[in-house]
Amino acid sequence: MINILGIETSCDDTAVSVVRDGTLILSNVIAAQTDMHEKYGGIIPEIASREHLMAIMPTVDAALEGAEISKEELDAVAVTHGPGLAGSLLVGLNSAKGLALGWDKPLIGINHLEGHIYSAWLEDADPECQFGFPLICLIASGGHTDLVVMFEHMSYKVVGRTRDDAAGEAFDKVARVLGLGFPGGPEIQAQAEGAKGLIPPFPRPKIGNSVDFSFSGLKTAVVRRAEEEGFYPRKTNQNPTRVQVEEFSGAFQSAVVDCLVRNVNRAVEEWGAKGIILGGGVAANSELRERMQSEGKVGVIAPRPGLCTDNGAMIGAAAYRHFNESICTQWELDVIPNLSL
Ligand code: KG4
Ligand code: ZN
Repeated sequence: MINILGIETSCDDTAVSVVRDGTLILSNVIAAQTDMHEKYGGIIPEIASREHLMAIMPTVDAALEGAEISKEELDAVAVTHGPGLAGSLLVGLNSAKGLALGWDKPLIGINHLEGHIYSAWLEDADPECQFGFPLICLIASGGHTDLVVMFEHMSYKVVGRTRDDAAGEAFDKVARVLGLGFPGGPEIQAQAEGAKGLIPPFPRPKIGNSVDFSFSGLKTAVVRRAEEEGFYPRKTNQNPTRVQVEEFSGAFQSAVVDCLVRNVNRAVEEWGAKGIILGGGVAANSELRERMQSEGKVGVIAPRPGLCTDNGAMIGAAAYRHFNESICTQWELDVIPNLSL
């Protein structure tokens, strides 16, 4: 039995979890900063790192308590060291170093994107057993939209990425245009449920023959139409109507989902993939999950929504593979804000 403490502070959530054998979640505690960032309509890096600093130790204590194990029963301390916001990553990494040193446990540095992939192994799912390798992984979040071929455990090649905005970033921006809260994804998803397809579709940007993505043109198309309809930039007494919000949300969401599903399926064919893994906050989106399940060329594993958004369990799950291969980190480990897979 291998118990790993997973710490994730790359963005705005302070998340700590205890994971057993890379699959069983003993505890999964998240101190979200949503209220703070909602006030500003986005994430302010300085505020995010200060909040992490205050939340990290209580969150570690809560994760150990929730898991009902003592620190002696832990086998390693794992932490995200990139990619992400430098100040936020530093809080997690330095805390993890202090704990690992104090408790005399190995330290394991994890790539945040690898964490999103290993969310698919949490709880009862096992993509390796269910499908086998290679797998196509779509990681769609606030900072990334990557298509990754996974050849075997810990072996990846990024074959597609966004050329401009990340999918989640586009959700957040469009939500602001529509006067919805932050983060935008869940708000747009809720509004889209009321859409009846009354407005013309938005464009589905395509990058030549590649499986790269582009969302800035789509975002601009939404802004232009909002300007034409007179509710953006917002003037007093010119809020969009409920029907406008629902229709814009539905049309925008379907355009994003079309692009994601199209490129995932193309990558599956190009790489002869046996299965599809979804990860990252946008993978919590119900339309994406449903359409990928029904239109995917091969089987799909999408972790439950709470494990798609940032969490500590995914870091514990990824670290289990490193631990098994005896890949432990040196104490000089530093944060790498632009770390790639
Ligand atoms: O993975 P994540 O929690 O953090 C990053 O690593 O960025 O992803 C956050 C992003 C935000 O942009 C948020 O709007 C989006 O994921 N998101 C969603 C949904 N839930 C979160 N996008 C679409 N539909 C959702 N249900
Ligand atoms: Zn993430």
